[in-house]
Amino acid sequence: CGIVGIVSHSPVAPLIVDALKRLEYRGYDSAGVATVEHGQLARRRAEGKLINLERRLKDEPLDGMIGIGHTRWATHGVPNETNAHPHFSDGVAIVHNGIIENFAELRDELMRDGYTFSSQTDTEVVAHLVGRELARGLQPVEAAHQALKRLEGAFALAIMFRGDEDLIVGARNGPPLAVGHGDGEMFLGSDAIALAPFTNSITYLEDGDWAVVRRNDVGIFDMDGNKVDRKRQQSLSTSFMVDKGNRRHFMEKEIHEQPEVISHTLAHYVDFVGGLSKPIDLPFDFAKIDRLAISACGTAYLAGLISKYWFERYARLPVDIDVASEFRYREMPLSKTDAAFFISQSGETADTLASLRYCRKAGMKIGAVVNVRESTMARESDVILPTLAGPEIGVASTKAFTCQLSVLASLAVRAGVARGTISPEQETTLVRQLSEAPRYANQVLKLDGQIEKVARDLSHYKNVLYLGRDTNFPLAMEGALKLKEISYIHAEGYAAGELKHGPIALIDENMPVIVIAPHDRIFEKTVSNMQEVAARGGKIILITDSKGAAHATVKTMKTIVLPDVPEIISPIIYALPIQMLAYFTAVFMGTDVDQPRNLAKSVTVE
Ligand code: G6P
Repeated sequence: CGIVGIVSHSPVAPLIVDALKRLEYRGYDSAGVATVEHGQLARRRAEGKLINLERRLKDEPLDGMIGIGHTRWATHGVPNETNAHPHFSDGVAIVHNGIIENFAELRDELMRDGYTFSSQTDTEVVAHLVGRELARGLQPVEAAHQALKRLEGAFALAIMFRGDEDLIVGARNGPPLAVGHGDGEMFLGSDAIALAPFTNSITYLEDGDWAVVRRNDVGIFDMDGNKVDRKRQQSLSTSFMVDKGNRRHFMEKEIHEQPEVISHTLAHYVDFVGGLSKPIDLPFDFAKIDRLAISACGTAYLAGLISKYWFERYARLPVDIDVASEFRYREMPLSKTDAAFFISQSGETADTLASLRYCRKAGMKIGAVVNVRESTMARESDVILPTLAGPEIGVASTKAFTCQLSVLASLAVRAGVARGTISPEQETTLVRQLSEAPRYANQVLKLDGQIEKVARDLSHYKNVLYLGRDTNFPLAMEGALKLKEISYIHAEGYAAGELKHGPIALIDENMPVIVIAPHDRIFEKTVSNMQEVAARGGKIILITDSKGAAHATVKTMKTIVLPDVPEIISPIIYALPIQMLAYFTAVFMGTDVDQPRNLAKSVTVE
């Protein structure tokens, strides 16, 4: 979810909607705005995309000069208007991002006190908790403070009060919240991007902080009520709203940006001209660590999984890789002398952030591979390893993924140099090979006509299997993830060698099998697996290079031939056809490509 609060000197509802548009990546299943006008709380809410709320506000405008707003990704309660935020109690309006873990207990307690609930959300308990403190006679600020003390879980909150047109209380415990300083006006928002049209002067709240926000003054406190000092900084976010250019979807635009952003990202880590990996100021020495722990979620996790092959192959550095939601609870032994990397486009994903904090507590050195340099993960790491992908709007990650791969491949080379497993000549060769990635990516984009035709066929099936070996195994999983995310076709990615241990039972003429197999050391093994598929009537779509196409002794439904590329950049280049395949399939299916159902770009709950 995304939250906003504004205290200004003109009607704030249009400004809030503008800020919510920038936060829509955080969820888009319902939205709402509340203001205080003539002392009274008023709100408009609507199910579905923000446009519905905008229409609502056009018919029934709000005039207040103070307000809060919300765009929702449902956790508790279906996404309808009743469950949309802001939630009210007597005299209180609240917007919330996160999960109140003790909500059931609090709700029972409030119900015993005579409170009735109109929604199925966990947020409404916060509204009533504050309302009960007001009813007991506390002033608004103290009422909010006492209620906040009762909350367990992860939350960012903005609270507003009847009769007070110069007060919003904000609170953070988990999901991010920033205060934006204006001239005679003040802002609260889930991130600096939301506030960029209004101000670049930002103070980030830390966990456990709560803020008293008024037009001309902001006070930040800890849970004991002590004033705390949080520095004000200039945000680099621009008010420029990223647009689709002449593309149909952001995803299409972002796929096509890849040659350029891969090139920018690589140039940050390697010296193309000198053929050298650039020295990075790391808080640890690659030569002195025994293991590298990596954790991430979704597509970022799959980038990490690919990098395991690179770090182990080029640097002989063992990598433990987990999805962050498992890592944080699985009680693995960690060593203070080792390093941990966290990969995240947003830098805010709750599980990844929790894993980062877990490793920090264990005394490990932390590197964050993030796309948003002002994100919480960036701020809490020892070293920021940026991806230079630019803003990624499409919910299904594309350019952030290939930029993550670009960073990780460069770091694997750097680690190999540091550990003496790569000779200076090999370093130069690998760096030269990396530098060719943008050019090959460009060539692959030109295959769009061919890939679109395959996608048309694919859109008629209900299930698709992706197979690959080595780095193409995580890529097979990424292909399946992309397809299911945006086209809603069920898909699975498997290590080709595992086919015979289960998934082969599914093979028949209704199961297309996408095989990702450049002509590498183990190509022949994958050919055997393709034969096993063909023998059972499975339809093969082979993504390979010219050598692979010549040596694949099996009948395919379609073979997509990519340029012959060096091994180290193969996952970066092969990512493109699988993204394009998912994209065109979704377009044929008529789905909402950039904002697929049930998903959110940034997931700040566990
Ligand atoms: C969500 C997005 C995915 C993304 C994952 C991790 O589920 O829909 O595309 O891979 O979060 O996000 P992060 O910002 O941490 O990379």
